[in-house]
Amino acid sequence: MNLLERPRRLRATPIMRELVAETSVEARHLITPHFVVEGSGHCDEIASMPGVNHVSVDKLVTEVEADLKLGLKTHLLFGIPSKKDEHGSAALDENGVVQQALRALKEKFGQDIITVTDVCLCAYTSHGHCGFLENGLVVNDPSVEQLARMALSHAEAGCDIVSPSDMMDGRVSAIREILDDGGFVNTSILAYSAKYASAYYGPFRDACDSAPQGDRKTYQMDPRNAREGVLETLLDVAEGADMVMVKPALAYLDVVRRVREEVLCPVVCYNVSGEYSMVKFAAKAGLVNEEAIVRENLLAMRRAGSDLIITYHGRDALKQGWI
Ligand code: PBG
Ligand code: ZN
Repeated sequence: MNLLERPRRLRATPIMRELVAETSVEARHLITPHFVVEGSGHCDEIASMPGVNHVSVDKLVTEVEADLKLGLKTHLLFGIPSKKDEHGSAALDENGVVQQALRALKEKFGQDIITVTDVCLCAYTSHGHCGFLENGLVVNDPSVEQLARMALSHAEAGCDIVSPSDMMDGRVSAIREILDDGGFVNTSILAYSAKYASAYYGPFRDACDSAPQGDRKTYQMDPRNAREGVLETLLDVAEGADMVMVKPALAYLDVVRRVREEVLCPVVCYNVSGEYSMVKFAAKAGLVNEEAIVRENLLAMRRAGSDLIITYHGRDALKQGWI
């Protein structure tokens, strides 16, 4: 055949494919979540998320030390308090799990790591909602005040990046204001901007014991809406977000792409618990090749336009040399 174009030429050998690869995923692109519990000596695997643990602060330090050796420098903390109440007051406790974890990590690792905290009330409230519940409704403005106080408390404990995941309106500007007033002008905000009401958070809600009464559809977004995801993201940028996030990742790569084209700041996607556990359990059942699936999924997120990926796969991927 007399063909002008033969794209297969550039796929002929592994090094030729390496030469022309458009996308890569590296350790520096990955953010590693941790579930921090009270007490000491705890490192217990979460049943719904094989390979992910509930850790107490002492074991968190051990875990982060091992991660650091693999090149994972950015760590996202979720607190699981032993006491919950209507307003999630434990979230503001200067000796709460997350605040203690932040101090322990900074003391041990200083500037070698970046700490990120999830700012949300759902793990701290007795009703499991991300804000205050009044007469059966999740109210916006009082919730925002509490979330801002929570962010300030994390900053005071040494957090580098606070990350509101509640989806209340106006929380990014409220957090920016309280941080600036408190002198924390250098604490960054990574906003969960286009966060959808998703069934993919199931294993996480088991891990955090944070399943809500009812659902989160009055504040998390409707999966039918992509344009609205861009709107939410642009609002967060205008309110002062330093980075924005799309969540979940795999079922929303169209949103990642659109957001990437609309903003100039770093775009993060969250490869959530359900996406992780589906791969883990399918691999355990021998249905898929975990290495190949994880690489393909992470590359898809990068190809869609994510600068950074929050993922539970990072440790395995680096330890086993999958990326
Ligand atoms: C808290 C929060 C959730 C996740 C991150 N922050 C759960 C939720 O909104 O219900 C999900 C993370 C995951 O599934 O891995 N609002
Ligand atoms: Zn929440």
